[in-house]
Order: sequence, then C-alpha cells, then structure tokens
Amino acid sequence: MTQPLTGSLKWWQSGIIYQIYPRSFQDTDGDGIGDLRGITRRLPYIASLGVQAVWLSPIFKSPMRDFGYDVADYCDIDPLFGTLADFDALVQEAHRLGLKVMLDYVPNHSSSDHAWFQEALKSRDNPRRDWYVWRDPAPDGGVPNNWKSFFGGPAWTLDQASGQYYLHQFLPTQPDLNWRNPEVRQAMFDVLRFWMARGVDGFRVDVIWLLAEDERFLDEPLNEDANREVIGGQVEHSTLIHIYTQDQPETHEYIREMRQVIDEFDDRMMVGEIYLPLDKLLPYSGTPDAPMVHLPFNFHLILLAWNAAQIRQFADEYDAASNQAGAWPNWVLGNHDQHRFKTRVGAAQYRVAQTLLLTLRGTPTVYYGDEIGMQNVPIPFGRMVDPAGLQQPDSPAAGRDPERTPMQWDATPNAGFTGAGVETWLPLADDFASVNVEAQQNDPHSDLNYFRALTKLRETHPALIGGTYESLDSGHDDVFLFRRTLGPDTLLVALNFGAETHPLTLLPGQTMLPGQTLLSSLNDQPPADAPLRANEARIVLNS
Ligand code: GLC
Ligand code: MG
Repeated sequence: MTQPLTGSLKWWQSGIIYQIYPRSFQDTDGDGIGDLRGITRRLPYIASLGVQAVWLSPIFKSPMRDFGYDVADYCDIDPLFGTLADFDALVQEAHRLGLKVMLDYVPNHSSSDHAWFQEALKSRDNPRRDWYVWRDPAPDGGVPNNWKSFFGGPAWTLDQASGQYYLHQFLPTQPDLNWRNPEVRQAMFDVLRFWMARGVDGFRVDVIWLLAEDERFLDEPLNEDANREVIGGQVEHSTLIHIYTQDQPETHEYIREMRQVIDEFDDRMMVGEIYLPLDKLLPYSGTPDAPMVHLPFNFHLILLAWNAAQIRQFADEYDAASNQAGAWPNWVLGNHDQHRFKTRVGAAQYRVAQTLLLTLRGTPTVYYGDEIGMQNVPIPFGRMVDPAGLQQPDSPAAGRDPERTPMQWDATPNAGFTGAGVETWLPLADDFASVNVEAQQNDPHSDLNYFRALTKLRETHPALIGGTYESLDSGHDDVFLFRRTLGPDTLLVALNFGAETHPLTLLPGQTMLPGQTLLSSLNDQPPADAPLRANEARIVLNS
C-alpha cells in the first residue's frame, strides 16, 4: 500500500510521454524520410490521443551512421529534418496545443564528424584532445584493454596518425566524450541551455549511465551468462560484466551537475536512459538535497517475461521502493531500440499490455504507432540499415529496423507517410492498408480508440494518475489485479495474462468491492464481477 499523493503533480508526473522517431513519422518533402514539418502537421493527432508531451529522437546535424545518435552539431537541426525555424514552429504549435516538447540529448558520445573530434585528431596536444578518451596501445601494440562496443568489436579504435586509441562504447564513428574534463561538461551543459532557451521543456538523456569510465582502465571480468545486449541485440558485448564502463560514481556526480543546469529554467525535466536493475536504477533519482534525473527510465516491462506473477512482483517492489526513495515511477513498453510490444507479447495480449502501461502508478511512455497496434516489420537483408543489425545479419533478434518503420496513417500507397512512388527509408508494414490511423479513427472498437478510452479514463479518474497502488491476490497465476485509490475514487484493474476464463474473486481476507465496469478490452461492458475472460483487461470503478 502506498501513500496517496498530496499536492499538485508536475506535467511529467501526470502526463503521458509520446516518443516520435522523426525519420518515420511524416515526410513532407518527398525524400522518404520524415521531417519536422511533418511532425508539426501531425501534432493535432498527437494531442487527440490524450498524451501531454512529445519526445523526439535526435534531430541534430548528423552523418546518420546511428541515425542521429551520432551528433555532429548539438545546436543545429539536420537539413534532412529541416531548419531551426522549422523547429521553432514545431515548438510553438505544440505549446499552442498544450503539448510539451522533449529532445533527445546525447552526451556520452559525439559523431566523429563533430568539429571537437576533428580538432582532437589533429595532434596529441590539441586543446580538444582531452575532450575524448585516449589511451596508448597495450605493450603488444593492441587495444588498451578488453572493453567492448555495444555494437560488436572492441570499444577502441586506433588513430594511426597519433598512435593512440580512442574509446567508443558504440560505433567507431561515435567517440566517447571525456566527461571528466570540466570543459566538456560546460560545453555540454550549454547545449541544454541553448535548447531550453528555445522553449524545450525536457530531455531524454541517451545512455546516461555510461557517462564515466573507471580511470584505471582495467579489463572487465567475463560474464558466464552472456545473452543478447539490451541495446542492439548483440551477444558479444554482454560477454563482459561492465563494472568499469557503466554506473560509475563519477557519473552520479555529473548528473547532479546536469540537474542543476536543468533547474536554472522553470518546470523543465529530464528522463535518463538507464538499463539497470531496480536497486541500481532508483538511485538515479537522487535525493531531495541532491536531485538527479526526474525519471530514470524503468524498462522492466520490456526486460521481464510476459508473466502476471513476475510483473506483479516487480510492480509491488518498484512502487514501494519508489515511494521510499521519494521518486516518481515510470513505465515503458516500447522504444526505437526494442521490438514492438504487440509482436513481443502477442496480438491476444496487446490490450492487456496497453492497459497495464496506462494504469500502473507512474508516467507512461508510448512509442509512436503502438497506439494503433503496429508490429515488427520483417526487413529483407538488402533493406537493413541499422548498424547494430548489420553486424549480425543472420540473427533476426539483433537489429532495430523492424520497430522503426514508417507510421501508418492511411491506406493510400506509402500509408500517407510520404507520396506515392517515393521509396521510404525503411519498408512499410504489409498490413498498413488495414492497420492505420484513418481506418481506426471511426471504428469504435479499434486499438486506437481503445487507447483513447484509456487516456480518457485517466482524465476522468485522477486515481489512475495520483492514486495509490495496491496489488491483490487473485488466486490465479495468470491474473494480475490491482487497485488505484485517490480519496473516494477506487479503481480495480483486472488483467488476464492467460487464455482461460477465471472467476473474478479474491482470496479470503480481501474484499471485492461492488463496482461498475468502466472499460473492457473485449469491447463490451460485462458486469463488474463477471468472470474475467481469456486475454481480458477490465477496469472497474468501485463505489
Ligand atoms: C541509445 C539509443 C540507441 C543508440 C545508442 C547509442 O541506447 O537509444 O538508439 O544507438 O544509445 O547512441
Ligand atoms: Mg523528408
């Protein structure tokens, strides 16, 4: 049982964050790649979903070797996406519609095309040299240590001219910035100021838990349980235990400094990308005296098996621990690095998952297209573009193209994403003629309208936002039941993770309050205490 929330909530606590992958949202200039004007044109659609903020994956100048996560100029827009004027117009229109705008801030590494790195390459005593992480070769002339890149191969590349290696936790064209250098921190903090002064409301901070590395540069120990890495799906990177390249004490310090910069402006926020277990994740919220990120991304709905008992257990622990830490929880089912959740949990469980995301206590993040039930799109080898996938071309689990395909707006050729006859940067799903916004708009039973029904319920029942969370024993392994309570308002969320009907009862000692069904994922309105059908999600108002 958690404490009810007192006082008023901030927008990033009460609202839903909607992530846009700009290359795939809406193309307006006919190059088959989405752009800022396209996003601006679609903002009314986003507002109509009942979400409160949009987060744009990187739109900065970039050679696009990691599709924008390799930034060549942090304070300019890539011409592919438009201009600073287009961006200002986007922010203005978003604000007019009551939407906040969040950018993707990529502090761990720049592109090798960035002027800073180009300077650093010039000589060992160039003033920018120490802005990146350099090491001499090992005595045998090889790499300085065994550290690996997420995308395969060593985390070190030799600069022939100077005879030194530079560090990159991702591609060789994404050199790691040296956050130990105070000049780097100042330059990167000025980037935040630049965008906040332009009206940006918040930032998603890329791989924030990787900012610092241990200064001894020791080999990392071998990992006996190597598995697919959480970003990019490679196995090789997870053959090491990353005790020297992740989650370092200095990283915590730098984030505290970063937070002070965010707090120079009113009502701004940052959410940090952090793939860590709960006990290491929550400290990224910081303390009241030394706050860190407003939301440390909680990816556990992605990382855990789709299993009612395990998810309940995690939700209980996370809710309690967040309360104890004074931190606000958050939930994520999908993003541009993870396979589409409808594909992951299966079509039958899709609405159960969507209901869970939007009713648990904490800020939900929604990945574009998930509201219409977009699925992974199989990408033929010749069309693969993600560098992480290209490293392991025969492994369909690696690679992130399948979840990055163009938004499906309507049934016209190219799904309304771009003009007919244009080659889109990634292929469209072959089901776009039926799975698209326009087709679902007027169908009361569509996934899109189910999503809207859920966001509407959050508006009419603040218990779903600020209320306490308490899970209940359903007596069935497949059924996850929880209550959200705020004042006199109590909602019961009943989720059947299985394919069998179960009576909706509680174990002795718990009370089932009389109630009224507000929403069922099966498009009808069964009595509140009717058996919970296979794959049903039901929300009941208790009175
Ligand atoms: C983050 C991004 C991912 C990118 C990587 C390197 O994990 O989400 O897309 O490839 O960082 O910047
Ligand atoms: Mg375009």
